[in-house]
Amino acid sequence: MSLLLTGISELTTNDPARGDGHRDRAGRGDAMLGIVRDAALVVADGEIAWVGPAAEAPDADERRDLGGRAVIPGFVDSHTHLVFAGDRSAEFAARMTGTPYDGGGIAVSVAATRAASDDELRVLVAARVAEMRAQGTTTVEIKSGYGLTLDDELRSLRIARELTPHTTFLGAHVVPREYATDRAAYVDLVTGPMLDAVTADGPTSLAESIDVFCEPHSAHAFDGDEARAILTAGRDAGLALRVHGNQLGHGPGVRLACELGARSVDHCTYLDDADVEALAGARGTTVATLLPGVEFSTRSPYPDARRLVDAGVDVALASDCNPGTCYSSSIPFAIALAVREMGMTPAEALHAATAVSARSLGLDRRVAPGQPAELAVIDAPSHLHLAYRAGVPIVRALEV
Ligand code: NIG
Ligand code: FE
Repeated sequence: MSLLLTGISELTTNDPARGDGHRDRAGRGDAMLGIVRDAALVVADGEIAWVGPAAEAPDADERRDLGGRAVIPGFVDSHTHLVFAGDRSAEFAARMTGTPYDGGGIAVSVAATRAASDDELRVLVAARVAEMRAQGTTTVEIKSGYGLTLDDELRSLRIARELTPHTTFLGAHVVPREYATDRAAYVDLVTGPMLDAVTADGPTSLAESIDVFCEPHSAHAFDGDEARAILTAGRDAGLALRVHGNQLGHGPGVRLACELGARSVDHCTYLDDADVEALAGARGTTVATLLPGVEFSTRSPYPDARRLVDAGVDVALASDCNPGTCYSSSIPFAIALAVREMGMTPAEALHAATAVSARSLGLDRRVAPGQPAELAVIDAPSHLHLAYRAGVPIVRALEV
């Protein structure tokens, strides 16, 4: 069964070869979006079968008129921590009146997650994924990291895997309380028995990647040497690498990620010139994933996306949806913050939340024949409205 979608005022393909080289109002090119105006699309069996100007559209079994709306690739949220139970809204309220974030609250979510049944967790995670889809996210990465025992980490990954192939083992989120006086023993547990169990049925049977919260400014997280041990063990076991780096202050995370060829280093809030140089040198391998919902929700300074883009760094945007630093699942919110506070153009922000975040998961998210029909529709004539109409629910996954 094929479906012809017409009435598309603006189609973002992320395929520069298709675009008309249009420049956005900020004067910076948006050629990377590969925009086709007055476009049509044919979808068949969940795949894109044809893309082009409406005037040249072929016939199909069914037609649907989108009434002059914009269509974009579905958002790829490449950094989330959706497997958790419990409530930390009071911690957020305290931060708004000056209490700093230090990672200590993670233990509260760990206790609540361990206490939840499989079915309770399953319902919570599925609701969060549905909430994302209703806001235009069609692909999601989900990390473990609120279990921190072998069984609870495996359970978190299994539940995440029911909803996405893009799962990440974050046993090295923080050192759990029961290991506070013997950090080395916890690193040994993560790099030994936990990693063995995660990869027991094949390297990526439960997790695609391994991640570590590398943060010398938090007593709970891991320093550069511990992070290196965790990442190299993960790489040797066949997992792709991701890093939480330079979130709370300057640290070794970004340079470690670039050195080890991580797919992504996330947060990148505090960077010096050497970090930016390392990221620019790692272009094509390591993506800098910015998570502005975190700065919003922790009252930290926003990362300087303009500096990174101008240096030639691959910049992605994601939500980091988690109970501590950002309980927002909204990519449109992240885009609006990136445009308003971080110096990105609307085009750069959209590209960062689709094409570049996809690349950090090893995916290609161009709207082209043969690609999966993972699309979103905006109740507006162009992608500029994503940031322009901040806070208004105008974008959702396109059901085809
Ligand atoms: O990405 N920084 C580490 N982990 C999460 C926060 C986790 C939490 O506070 O529950 C983050 O910001
Ligand atoms: Fe995170």
